[in-house]
Amino acid sequence: MATHIFFSGLLALCFTIAIATDNSPLQDFCIADSTSPVILNGLACKDPKLAQANDFSFSGLHIAGNTSNAVGSRVTPVTVAQLSGLNTLGISFARVDYAPGGINPPHLHPRASEILTVLKGCLEVGFVTSNPDNRLITKVLQKGDVFVFPVGLIHFQRNAGQHNAVALAALSSQNPGVITIANAVFGSNPAISSDILAKAFQTDNKIVNDIQSKF
Ligand SMILES: *[C@@H]1O[C@H](CO)[C@@H](O)[C@H](O)[C@H]1NC(C)=O
Repeated sequence: MATHIFFSGLLALCFTIAIATDNSPLQDFCIADSTSPVILNGLACKDPKLAQANDFSFSGLHIAGNTSNAVGSRVTPVTVAQLSGLNTLGISFARVDYAPGGINPPHLHPRASEILTVLKGCLEVGFVTSNPDNRLITKVLQKGDVFVFPVGLIHFQRNAGQHNAVALAALSSQNPGVITIANAVFGSNPAISSDILAKAFQTDNKIVNDIQSKF
């Protein structure tokens, strides 16, 4: 009996360690030590005795991002790369600014769901369900409205108003990752063969080359 309990305890311990990902920190905190040579799933912890309030803090999210670019939007991320105290906690944050008509182009987060609220302006948002339905779920949001983009699904926002818009988004990973569809498909390095893309998009090489040249 005692042996049985011991082994299930050991098994539980091993299992706990094996599933220690974004959502299950095994200590109060683990401030990322980006200088550590240790390679693991996440970032190594700084000595907790050296923790400072600033390790848990980020400043500047009141500052509007520069939207003077081809898509007319700017994401200001607050992930573990900007806020080392997020390491192992399974959450992060972002501010998104949109010029009138600006879009946050179709993209996905491989490691996070995203919950977004509109602080200013009016946003048309949407996501597409996975194959085979590829159903578009879309809605126009006003200030104070909240919308969730499920993990891994392609989603977008567009400023549907006449003035600048601002949104805040929270994400369920310290390191959500971003795959912007157009950039990843047409701007990969090195490029995907244009004949592959021509067949995939049911078009010709010339159009593919033209799109590729923009990324
Ligand atoms: C915004 O970005 C544009 C394009 O990169 C640049 O020309 C402009 O100076 C930037 N504006 C500010 C306020 O930084």
